[in-house]
Amino acid sequence: MKSLRYEKMNGRSIRIHRIPAAIVAILVICLLIYLCNTDEEQQPAMYGMLRNQNKVNMRKLLIGSIQAAQRGGLEILSVARTRNLKERSKGKTDEGANDPFTDADARSHCVMKHGLQRIFPRIQIFSEEDKEQCNEANTFDLDPTVLHETAKIPDELINISDVTVWIDPLDATQEFTEQLYEYVTTMVCVAVRGKPVIGVIHSPFIGQTAWAWIDRSMSEYLATIIAGEHDTSNPIITVSRSHAGDVKDLVRAVFGEKSNILTAAGAGYKVLQVASNNATAYLHSTKIKKWDICAGDAILRALGGTMTTLDNKLIDYGRGESPVNARGLLATVVQHDQYIEKLMTYRENQKTKQR
Ligand SMILES: *[C@@H]1O[C@H](CO)[C@@H](O)[C@H](O)[C@H]1NC(C)=O
Ligand SMILES: *[C@@H]1O[C@H](CO)[C@@H](O)[C@H](O)[C@H]1NC(C)=O
Repeated sequence: MKSLRYEKMNGRSIRIHRIPAAIVAILVICLLIYLCNTDEEQQPAMYGMLRNQNKVNMRKLLIGSIQAAQRGGLEILSVARTRNLKERSKGKTDEGANDPFTDADARSHCVMKHGLQRIFPRIQIFSEEDKEQCNEANTFDLDPTVLHETAKIPDELINISDVTVWIDPLDATQEFTEQLYEYVTTMVCVAVRGKPVIGVIHSPFIGQTAWAWIDRSMSEYLATIIAGEHDTSNPIITVSRSHAGDVKDLVRAVFGEKSNILTAAGAGYKVLQVASNNATAYLHSTKIKKWDICAGDAILRALGGTMTTLDNKLIDYGRGESPVNARGLLATVVQHDQYIEKLMTYRENQKTKQR
């Protein structure tokens, strides 16, 4: 074995074997890199440490998003079981309806937001209940078994600064307080450079999670419902039960007196009605918050569908944007062009009349 000879101060020499020394040095470097590499990526040490430190693995973010929605759902179920919702009001919506808030909203928010933020500390997350203080929030660790066994999910790294996450800890709170539980959902959406890419809509009382990662994979539940044909001969428009008056008039004016209207609650629930062909379009004519619609936007896109404002613009979910979409909503799986054209023509005519 080759060795190096060093002269020590006192004149005696020691031998250091080159190969064992190199092994020790490599091990020390590995350990240092491993210790430094504590960001959310947890990439194999050594490999691409510097290159990946500003990236997030979308597969992990998908798994975390599904878990967050399901954990939020568990909090909601547990508050519902106690029947002690501690309901209070956040004020009035723009339509003048009461905007309620319960312990279920708070507990779901805390586990969803803080659970995700703990695993992905540098990602920008917006939640409907960001004002809420979370003292001892439950958390969770990533559990890939939330994906079905046949799901093929690639590891894909995306710049963290391009990612925004939108959380709705409890959609349809009003209906939750009325025990109309089927409408209640929890939602998580991941947008990349403002475009919705991953959507999760979890229905805790039905025990169903619909999720999609556009062009990559989707939940078994969504995969089975898209297998059905989309019947377009008979328009069925789903609208909100809480401010149905105006929007029902709009539907009849635009699509005819005999239009079929499905009144329902919760933007998440309504998107699922469109996804599953129980409705052919979802129409909303007033302001709506982005955490209400981002996950549905991603899921509909994954099914080949479209969600736009009433002036046919895509909605931007980037970090610099306002959390409010003030320009209404039309969501479909097929024939978006035909619906939007009728709507825009009608609105154009209304404007001309007013002049
Ligand atoms: C990520 O960000 C870096 C630096 O800001 C940029 O050079 C690179 O093109 C970005 N990568 C992607 C996939 O957007
Ligand atoms: C669609 O309607 C059918 C029949 O009413 C119902 O069983 C099903 O749950 C609905 N789908 C969704 C997503 O609610």
